[in-house]
Amino acid sequence: MKILVTGGAGFIGSHFIRRILKTYPDCEVINLDKLTYAGCLENLRDVEGNERYRFVKGDICNSSLVQELAARVDCIANFAAETHVDRSVLDPGSFIKTDIEGTYTLLEAARRFGHKRFLQVSTDEVYGSIASGSFTEQAPLNPSSPYSASKAGADLLVLSYHRTFGLPAVITRSSNNFGPNQHPEKFIPLFITNALDNKKLPLYGSGENVRDWIYVEDNCEAIDLVLHRGEPGGIYNIGAGREMKNIDVVRLILEELEKPWDLVRFVTDRPAHDLRYSLDTKKIRALGFRPRHNFMEALKKTVQWYMENRPWWEVLKSGEFESFYSELYGAKKESDRPTGPS
Ligand code: NAD
Ligand code: TYD
Repeated sequence: MKILVTGGAGFIGSHFIRRILKTYPDCEVINLDKLTYAGCLENLRDVEGNERYRFVKGDICNSSLVQELAARVDCIANFAAETHVDRSVLDPGSFIKTDIEGTYTLLEAARRFGHKRFLQVSTDEVYGSIASGSFTEQAPLNPSSPYSASKAGADLLVLSYHRTFGLPAVITRSSNNFGPNQHPEKFIPLFITNALDNKKLPLYGSGENVRDWIYVEDNCEAIDLVLHRGEPGGIYNIGAGREMKNIDVVRLILEELEKPWDLVRFVTDRPAHDLRYSLDTKKIRALGFRPRHNFMEALKKTVQWYMENRPWWEVLKSGEFESFYSELYGAKKESDRPTGPS
């Protein structure tokens, strides 16, 4: 198999490329990545010399480049996206451009070259929030943020290419990932790295929001399963079935780092902050998927990785990151809520 992986210099894409090169000795990978603030070639330093791997710097919205690369492969796995909800509140346009127009550009190329597979990496956020119960793949899309709305739009386009043109496309919708190499703007790495520097931990609202945390390698295993065995036109929810309130995740991070609770600051909530995500994962389990990693073990491993890789995240937390956060927190205030663990 020759595969064009987009967004492979990001968090999940880099873990996926490493897995594919290791698992399939005949597989060749082209990694197309724009290297936005979120892309980091350091994530794939260990595979750089692999003769079955090639990196191309470029934009998935660049149709001629995408067509040139698509001509050399037999499938596309699209991880490239703008991914941070808070940024989508400040700048929705870049999300619509990359997440929708970029996906359209890739779909056109896959159609033109008669690809055997098109894999769209999507998110549980397209379903929106659910107070009780869990969303199956048939649930209506009800996104809350420009990020999740862009991802939902892309999903609908992918499904339309399957129905209209017979493109053998599959979609994965996973829950929140965590693990090494996740950009320090996201919740778990932001809180680990801030705590390591004795900086404040900005917990949104009351900290009661619930996410189902999956270790990144488990998600990559499930994506790999769907790539190889998913039914064309199929959507697959991927989750670990490990729902936790943010406030409880913070407590575990602080315990692991032996840092005090008084680093936590309750701040103004994110607009339209989804209270709870929850997925019904029967379909991916029927393909044989079981998450291998225990949450606490994986969290310890993740904390350890950030402790040992300070230069990696210090670079990402300087420059552009600082101006983004001053804009974000310019609009946020500490709330009056007492700051004890619940
Ligand atoms: P990330 O932000 O770490 O990486 C995104 C990568 O895409 C970066 O390397 C960036 O440079 C690249 N990119 C952005 N715009 C591009 C463009 N126009 N052209 C080419 N490359 C571009 O993201 P991630 O957390 O690894 O997420 C990967 C995918 O998984 C995304 O599609 C995201 O929606 C989805 N997802 C993520 C999570 C999560 O918890 N992180 C959960 C569910 C789904
Ligand atoms: P995030 O990592 O941004 O993922 P998503 O919003 O896509 O689920 O955030 C995870 C949870 O953590 C979410 O409920 C928002 C919350 N959060 C904070 O409380 N403070 C923060 O600084 C960030 C980035 C997130």
